[in-house]
Amino acid sequence: MRTQVGIIGAGPAGLLLSHLLHLRGISSVVLERRSREYVERRVRAGVLEQGTVDTLVAAGVGERLLREGLPHRGIELRYGGAGHRIAFERLVPGRAITVYGQQEVVKDLIAARLAADGDVRFEVDDVAVHDIGTDRPYVTFGGGERLDCDVIAGCDGFHGVTRPSIPDGVLTAYEREYPFAWLGVLARVQPSAEELIYARTERGFALHSMRSPEVSRFYLQVPAGTDLADWPDERVWAELRTRLETVPGFSLATGEIFERGVTPMRSFVAEPMQYGRLYLAGDAAHIVPPTGAKGLNLAVADVRVLTGALARFYADGSAELLDGYSAACLKRVWRAQHFSWWMTTLLHTFDSDDAYGRRLQLSHLDYVTSSEAAAATLAENYVGLPYEDGDPAGP
Ligand code: FAD
Ligand code: PHB
Repeated sequence: MRTQVGIIGAGPAGLLLSHLLHLRGISSVVLERRSREYVERRVRAGVLEQGTVDTLVAAGVGERLLREGLPHRGIELRYGGAGHRIAFERLVPGRAITVYGQQEVVKDLIAARLAADGDVRFEVDDVAVHDIGTDRPYVTFGGGERLDCDVIAGCDGFHGVTRPSIPDGVLTAYEREYPFAWLGVLARVQPSAEELIYARTERGFALHSMRSPEVSRFYLQVPAGTDLADWPDERVWAELRTRLETVPGFSLATGEIFERGVTPMRSFVAEPMQYGRLYLAGDAAHIVPPTGAKGLNLAVADVRVLTGALARFYADGSAELLDGYSAACLKRVWRAQHFSWWMTTLLHTFDSDDAYGRRLQLSHLDYVTSSEAAAATLAENYVGLPYEDGDPAGP
C-alpha cells in the first residue's frame, strides 16, 4: 500500500490533518488503534478557541459546531466568597470561545473523511514506523501489512508509538508533574451558570463547565492516584457544592452522572517535534494541564502548520517549511505551556504551599480580577493568540 502521508492516530490532530490534506489534494491513510465507537465516545476537551472554530468552519466541518456549539464571551473566577467575570467582549473585542465537546469535533471529522472516501482504519494493531530517518519511511501494522509513504505524521497522543521511535539522544523532554489530578464527570442536568466557573477554594479547585443546555461538565481537583471507586455520586456532588456554592445566591443543580474519569495533570514538551520524515503533532509532542483549555487547540495549530508545510513540499518540492515545522510550532506551544501552568498554579491548592504561598496566590487572583491589564492577559491567552501565519481561516 502506498500513500503520500501516513497518519498514526485518529484523534483531533490526525483526523483534521487528513481532512486538510485532502482539501489540498494530498492523499493520506489514518491508522487508529481504537474502534470508531471508542474514539467518538471518548470524553475530553470542551473549549474551542476562536481560531480553532475558524479553522474548522473554513475547512467545511463547522456546520454542526456553529449550530450546536455554545459561544461564550466570558468566564468567572470564583474565590474568597465572590465571583469575578473576565469579560472577553471588553478585553479582547471580537474574540470568544465556543463550548463544543471534543468527541463532537471527532465525529464531524470522521464523517467528513468517510464522505470523501477517506481511508481511516480503526482497530489497527501493532503499528510501528520504520526508516523515518530516510526519505522512504514506512509503517507496518496488523498481521504484516505495510504502508509506504513520503512522510509520517505522529498524531498518536502522549502514549503513542511514534515519539518513542525517534532514536535516543535526538529529543529533549521538558516536563513537570503536578501532585494532583482532575476528577471529571458529565451529568444530565441543566448548567447552573451561563458561563464557565473556575473556582479556587481551600479544599481545592473546581470547574463548572457544560456541553449543552441539558448536560453539565464538572471537574474536581483530587490527589494524584485517586481511585474513582472512592467517589460515589453523593460524594462528588457534596464536594462540588462545597467548592462552588461559595457566593451568595448560587446553588448547584444536580442530576444523573453518566460519565466519569480521572485525568493526571502534566506539562510536557518534546523538542524538536520532528525527526527525518516523522513529524509529531498534538499530544504526541506536548501535553498541558487542562486548566487553560489548550490541548486540543494546540493540536489544531500544529496541524495547520504541518498542512502548510506539506502543501509547499508537494507544490514545488521545497522542504523549507517542513524543516522549520518544529520551530514554527514551538513558539505557540511554549506560550500555551506557560499559560496552562500559570492558570494551574493560580487556581489549585498545593500541599507544598505554606501560608505565605497561599497569600501570594490570593494576591495574584486579586490582581487578575481588578486590573484591566492583567485580566486582558488572561483573556487574550484564553481565547487564543492569533496564528503565526496571520490567516484566521486556515493554512
Ligand atoms: P489524542 O486525542 O490523544 O488522539 C491520539 C489518537 O491516537 C487516539 O485516538 C489514540 O487511540 C491513537 N493512538 C495511540 N496510540 C496508537 C497506536 N500505537 N497506534 C494507532 N493509534 C494510536 N484541550 C482543550 O483544548 N480544551 C479543553 O477544554 C481540554 N480539556 C481537557 C479535559 C480533559 C479531562 C482532558 C483529558 C484533556 C483535555 N484537553 C483539552 C486536551 C485535549 O483533549 C487533547 O490535547 C487532545 O485530545 C489532543 O489531540 P490529539 O489528536 O493530539 O491526541
Ligand atoms: C471542559 O468543558 O471539558 C473543560 C472546560 C475548560 C477547561 C477544561 C475542560 O479548562
